Amino acid sequence: MNKRQLGKTDIKISEVGLGTWQLSGDVWRKKTEAEYIQAIEVALDSDINYLDTALDYGNGYCERVIGKALQGHSSVVISSKIPPQCDDWSPKPQSKIEDYFSPDWIVNRCETSLKNLQRECIDILFLHTWNVAWGHCTEWYEAMVKLQEQGKIRAIGISVGDRRASEANSHIEAGRLDVVQTVYNILEQEPEYTLFPMAQKHQVGIIARCPFSSGALVSNWTASHQFPEGDWRGLWTADDWLAKQVEMVEQIKPIAQNTDLSMSALALKYILNHPTVTSVIPGSSRAEHIRSNVSVAALPNLPQNILEKLQQLWLDGKVHGTYNGGA
Ligand SMILES: NC(=O)c1ccc[n+]([C@@H]2O[C@H](COP(=O)([O-])OP(=O)(O)OC[C@H]3O[C@@H](n4cnc5c(N)ncnc54)[C@H](OP(=O)(O)O)[C@@H]3O)[C@@H](O)[C@H]2O)c1
Repeated sequence: MNKRQLGKTDIKISEVGLGTWQLSGDVWRKKTEAEYIQAIEVALDSDINYLDTALDYGNGYCERVIGKALQGHSSVVISSKIPPQCDDWSPKPQSKIEDYFSPDWIVNRCETSLKNLQRECIDILFLHTWNVAWGHCTEWYEAMVKLQEQGKIRAIGISVGDRRASEANSHIEAGRLDVVQTVYNILEQEPEYTLFPMAQKHQVGIIARCPFSSGALVSNWTASHQFPEGDWRGLWTADDWLAKQVEMVEQIKPIAQNTDLSMSALALKYILNHPTVTSVIPGSSRAEHIRSNVSVAALPNLPQNILEKLQQLWLDGKVHGTYNGGA
């Protein structure tokens, strides 16, 4: 699979990576550890060399599973994330950064992730949420640089909030970020306008998360769909999330039918088409989905008329965002 350079770093990652929130053993359908390890093995066998995780996924469980599965695979690139100390994923303008990401907290959580992952170095370390009001703050950055100098992390990143793609732009401009993780998909095209130009100008890598809008683009849901017990999407009733997703996806289906692509291929190809994106990280613990997502990387770019139709839907407000979960 083609590898793309992560911004100005010397890290090269497969353009399709693996999102591992689905391997957290809690809020997505629970499987056994052996099944999760098998999913990671399928990803590696399919030429994926990049896994995204977070300390928060199963409260360290997902990192520990990855640590076990990647014994003997030290060249596989891992990104992990530091959770906010106060456990609030949507900081308000008046929120104080020291309640979320104090230097001590960053160092302490990084050490825990290193232990979980059984590694001496985490390739990419993200802060797991952000706040535009922290544009003048630098203590978090100094803590990250110290970790970098100690060889404990390689690249410094922020995972920006859903619908808040541009909130870390001032830190991009100040040269503090190697990489930003953002929601970017057919339903959420805003980063193309508010984040990517800045990232491109400063050669900052982009990790595109939620390519299927948490499953909506690939699942044939109806507005009354019932999620299995324990699936976090079933708890998400705010803002008519499910009904709106279904309505938006109906606008995309006829466009997919005009191509020979499945919805999943159309969704991934839309993202990979943008040269600013370094890697897209579909989340899955299912072997056939992982293989199918990888196979999309080899397909040709989307025809210009299909791209334009998808972009027009967003410009007309017919698709208008992916989800509302907070972080
Ligand atoms: N704030 C943050 O930093 C943040 C927030 C959310 C997510 N993330 C990261 O981004 C990754 C991806 O986001 P996401 O998982 O929320 O959303 P997503 O990738 O848009 O959707 C995941 C869903 O799509 C299904 N799926 C995957 N491949 C498929 C295929 N080929 N055909 C049909 N269904 C398919 C998965 O089910 P199966 O398991 O059955 O395949 C799962 O239910 C996460 O795993 C995580 O690493 C980060």
